[in-house]
Amino acid sequence: MGDARDRAPVTVTACPDGPLLVRGPARIVDGEGREVERRRATVALCRCGGTGIPPWCDGTHKVNGYRSGETA
Ligand code: FES
Repeated sequence: MGDARDRAPVTVTACPDGPLLVRGPARIVDGEGREVERRRATVALCRCGGTGIPPWCDGTHKVNGYRSGETA
């Protein structure tokens, strides 16, 4: 049984023209299913494809013209 942090809700927020912010104890895994170490409670996943530190956002979306389009 995990501690209270493991039971906290996970929230994924799509930032307009930017990353996906993941809050809560979600496991982040790569395409092979290997867990990617998280060092922060809130992490930003790149969705523009331009980051130099995948899967994390490094702010490149601000200079590469990424537009997320309309949201649901
Ligand atoms: S979304 Fe920020 S670098 Fe890609």
